[in-house]
Amino acid sequence: MTTDEVLGVNAVALDSAGGHDGPMDPPLSTSSPPSSLPPNGGPGPAAPPTVYLDHSASAPPCNAALDAIAALLRRGAWGNPSSRHWLGQRARASLEHARDQLAGGLGVRAEDLLWTSGATEADDLGIAGAPQPAAIAWATIEHPAIVGPCRAVRDRGAVAVELPTHPDGKLDVARAQALLAAAPRPLLCVVAAVHHELGTIQPLAALRAALAPGDRLHVDAAQAAGRVDMQAVSRCADSVAVSGHKCGGVAGTGALWLRPGLPLRARVEGAQERGLRGGTENLLGALALGAASEEWTRRVEAHLPLRGLRDALWRSVADVWPGAVRQGPQDPADETGHVLSVALPGADAQALVEALDVEGVAVSAGAACSSGSGQPSPAIAALHGEARAKQTLRFSLGVGTTQEDIVAACAALARVRARLPR
Ligand SMILES: Cc1ncc(COP(=O)(O)O)c(C=O)c1O
Repeated sequence: MTTDEVLGVNAVALDSAGGHDGPMDPPLSTSSPPSSLPPNGGPGPAAPPTVYLDHSASAPPCNAALDAIAALLRRGAWGNPSSRHWLGQRARASLEHARDQLAGGLGVRAEDLLWTSGATEADDLGIAGAPQPAAIAWATIEHPAIVGPCRAVRDRGAVAVELPTHPDGKLDVARAQALLAAAPRPLLCVVAAVHHELGTIQPLAALRAALAPGDRLHVDAAQAAGRVDMQAVSRCADSVAVSGHKCGGVAGTGALWLRPGLPLRARVEGAQERGLRGGTENLLGALALGAASEEWTRRVEAHLPLRGLRDALWRSVADVWPGAVRQGPQDPADETGHVLSVALPGADAQALVEALDVEGVAVSAGAACSSGSGQPSPAIAALHGEARAKQTLRFSLGVGTTQEDIVAACAALARVRARLPR
């Protein structure tokens, strides 16, 4: 199947599902061959249909992002934004245009945004670059990009406060209140607006209300951008981290927004980004993220039909795999609707990911960054124990996902299960 055919099929499916009408149709990345086949359609067996259900690891860049990158290269404006000459100035103008676009998507001022290499770096800058607090609060189930810098702040002498969660991954703000009230000040509180493995939407406004004046709230919005109202996220936060490749841009770019007037120390020294983030900016990535952010509102709408597809996926998985347990919030108001986290009794999730890959189906066994380690998901282990974590698969849908993808993925899962020793 050609890329155009893939795009055509997806566009039709989205239209019939009441979805969007074009610019965010997934490009190349949904049609890549499984790893067992030769690259670039070279000689070999015909490629089986491929299904990409790992949008929380990386989502395909939207057409607006691809157009922005192509236009920049065509205009020959690829210079270093810090150069004083005409080429540098062209690059600077493009970079600042992208900053304006991203500011619009977040509902903030452009001058308060810093480009970074991704959400990992933006989290590190927003957490470990903040003035050393007396206490730091985070939940064990958070992404390693949050846990790492929070531990670093703790190791520098801050009192650690563990934010309690419900079994569905939602913060237990009522219980957190007493813990936060008893913590020494100043306090830095850190949370991901949307959980990377469960799709849980955190109650940011309630958490903010549980903080005292002068406390600082850093929000990781890597999984939230393009899935929830980002302006509402920024309103609750003092700093926000975003990631290009989760929301229609490309990997290797992100940004940190910092509420005006709050101090921050650079983690990488250099003159760029007002001296707060050294290193030449990733111009192409920034342009992609800026263009993608202009589509976030439409993207949130395009995500609405995914809930129905995800629920259909869950029903089929439950049929195919007796005893399967769905994890994460059951109340639609508490989750994005694009993630299915499921524990499959008797499964080794890592082996299952590989077996499904051979079938042409891309899923994950947890956060992509820890999947490489072969370790079971620490978040699921914290919520449900290590045995459950070892059996957990994460399916994550995106704007290009179709009914056909869901059917093909379940058929592949049934074939894989049939091969398992009983
Ligand atoms: C919640 C969360 N934060 C941070 C990151 C890291 O983002 P990046 O790849 O842009 O560094 C991820 C990636 O999966 C994530 O899910």
